[in-house]
Amino acid sequence: MVEDPSEPYGQDRQRDVIASGMLADDPPDLPVRYEELEARAVEAMESGPANYLAGGAGGETTMSTNREAFREWRIVPRLLRDVSERDLSVDLLGREFDVPFMVAPIGNQTIFHEAGELGTAGACADLNVPMCLSSVSSHTIEEVADTLGDTPKWFQLYWSSERAIMESFVGRAEDAGFDAIVVTVDVPILGWRERDLQGGYSPSLDGAGLGNYFSDPAFREGLDEPPEENESAAIYHWLDVFGNPALDWDDVEDLVGMTDLPVVVKGLLHPDDAEEAISRGVDAIAVSNHGGRQLDGEIAALEALPGIADQVMGRVPITFDSGIRRGPDIVKALALGADAAMVGRPFACGLAVGGEAGVREVLSNVRGDLDVSLSNTGTASVSDLDESVLVHRSELAGGR
Ligand code: FNR
Ligand code: LAC
Repeated sequence: MVEDPSEPYGQDRQRDVIASGMLADDPPDLPVRYEELEARAVEAMESGPANYLAGGAGGETTMSTNREAFREWRIVPRLLRDVSERDLSVDLLGREFDVPFMVAPIGNQTIFHEAGELGTAGACADLNVPMCLSSVSSHTIEEVADTLGDTPKWFQLYWSSERAIMESFVGRAEDAGFDAIVVTVDVPILGWRERDLQGGYSPSLDGAGLGNYFSDPAFREGLDEPPEENESAAIYHWLDVFGNPALDWDDVEDLVGMTDLPVVVKGLLHPDDAEEAISRGVDAIAVSNHGGRQLDGEIAALEALPGIADQVMGRVPITFDSGIRRGPDIVKALALGADAAMVGRPFACGLAVGGEAGVREVLSNVRGDLDVSLSNTGTASVSDLDESVLVHRSELAGGR
């Protein structure tokens, strides 16, 4: 018996959606199928934002490899195991999450829909789905924290080349009540994104993503005129201070010492880097290849996961993202050693199509699908998922 079962998310969602479609002639506003959702999102936006969201680095092979890696693992369900009550909750860095996934840090959300990060935060708060907020958000750390209320919240840090800005961001996230700092380390320089180069598109030049910088005392100190008076000078200054290709492991250790909040390192793909992260005192590791946006031809994040999980051996929790589209993808990531997943492009597509309500719909579907898929795997609690429910295609008879 599970002591504290979750809601029957899957059955409730199926019942609601099908009943309103059949009985009230009111089918879902958003496509349930991810592929159609992404197509609708792309249609709903101008080409610049659409390419920024849907595109990746170079020839985009990392993006397709991420999806192929999921197909290589097949679920082998075990049946007749009483899955009438499920528990989807996980404990992560001192907070209980109702579901084993959170919204990934995605920057510049007002280019997808004017509701931006506040729309996403509103949907997360409604459903109590944890959110990770990007440094490059159009709405500020404080506004998003306000909207999220008690919902678990992590702040993703882009470590500015101006140390004072980085320190100020960490302090603001602490003051606003964020639960963790996620330092993204796989962007020494923004990836080579052919669609954005061809289209001549950058979210910051489109007026997005700079809410935290323009409101930051340390950032403003570096300007001759405030952003309200000279926006383009402020944007150009931001381009100079945004990134920091000089970062190394000593900086990670420095961050761990600087804040009382747990520190998560996002973007690791090698077991030795995971070991180094642990030796530097980090509290969690986010296995990710940034959704294929940084380096064409990389290993799929899912291919990297088992090796990192073996190395980490439960010493710190692991989150996983890059390629998650549906509930069974989360089942696979958890079975391969992740403690929680991050859902990226799907919620952003929901935002593009339907604003806050769109994000709510996508997250409700992911949660419902996860619940249904967990039951059909024969597992009542996400904490019981392990590799025994999976087989790799190469292990199947005839390698098929
Ligand atoms: C991202 N990602 C990202 N990561 C991060 O640490 N800070 C950020 O600001 C952003 N911004 C961002 C914008 C867009 C449009 C996308 C699609 C992604 C990466 C994100 O957190 C996550 O790693 C990926 O979204 C995972 O890939 P999928 O599953 O969405 O394909
Ligand atoms: C991106 C940055 C903002 O992937 O992380 O576009």
